[in-house]
Amino acid sequence: MKVLNFGSLNIDYVYKVNHMVERGETLSSRELCTYPGGKGLNQSVALGKAGVEVYHAGSIGEEGRFLEEFLGEAGVNTDYVRILPQVKSGHAIIQNDDNGDNCILLYGGANQAITREQVDETLSAFGDGDYLILQNEINELPYIVKKAHEKGMKIVLNPSPMDEKALGLPLDQIDYFILNEIEAGQILGIENGGAQDLAKALGERFPGAKIVLTLGGDGSVYFDGVKSYVQEIYKVETVDTTAAGDTFTGYFIAGVLQELPVEKAMDMAAKAAAITVSRAGAGVAIPTMEEVENFQ
Ligand code: RIB
Repeated sequence: MKVLNFGSLNIDYVYKVNHMVERGETLSSRELCTYPGGKGLNQSVALGKAGVEVYHAGSIGEEGRFLEEFLGEAGVNTDYVRILPQVKSGHAIIQNDDNGDNCILLYGGANQAITREQVDETLSAFGDGDYLILQNEINELPYIVKKAHEKGMKIVLNPSPMDEKALGLPLDQIDYFILNEIEAGQILGIENGGAQDLAKALGERFPGAKIVLTLGGDGSVYFDGVKSYVQEIYKVETVDTTAAGDTFTGYFIAGVLQELPVEKAMDMAAKAAAITVSRAGAGVAIPTMEEVENFQ
């Protein structure tokens, strides 16, 4: 069984600010740091550091070569990362405030230049029973889901950042949804609802799919149609919440692939996310499995 993450690679420009810039305001930042990021890259890094043999597919521009190198250093196979000389790498402009919270502005760049030919070539190396992990930061997602489903791949979808395109995906072909309450509500077309009720409603809408609802500081909820489980967060001093959700996703899937009981996979993911929150940056903040195991 092989694991493919077809996802974004971003250059994250992180600006340290006293507060998030407001409409019409010009604000000076205190510091600028540049990090590897992108929901796709971050999730591949988490999988790689958790010990999963993972292939990352996606596209970058020339100036994003360090993103590919960073993936390689995290143990991720980059044979399916393409360099597009005429296109800029995707990037994110991130404000990081004194509470460790963030605001993110995305520029898709090469992440939005995925071609069907690239999808076909990449997927030709994968087949029945292999896992495909997706987020919503690349183009051609409907085609990727359709082709992967035809091959019998198991599809994990983290539909972030949620938009109309994600809502239009063939969601009945998804095996695992990992998403927050707002995203779950958008899929279901409801505005309010308790976390457990939302997870159950999503499970009923997509029978057979497994649901993981991430609730920020309130932990996470798992529902698979029969079993329901609630995971608390591990409290740490918050430095930067960027990539906490991606770390959770990568480590949770790593636990599933390692055939851990759901409770163990959720606990491991919560520990890994807590470590990420206690560090600055996205990809660079994601811990190794050894760090997760030693986390108190
Ligand atoms: O989830 C965090 C990520 O979102 C950042 O690394 C940024 O690149 C955006 O994709």
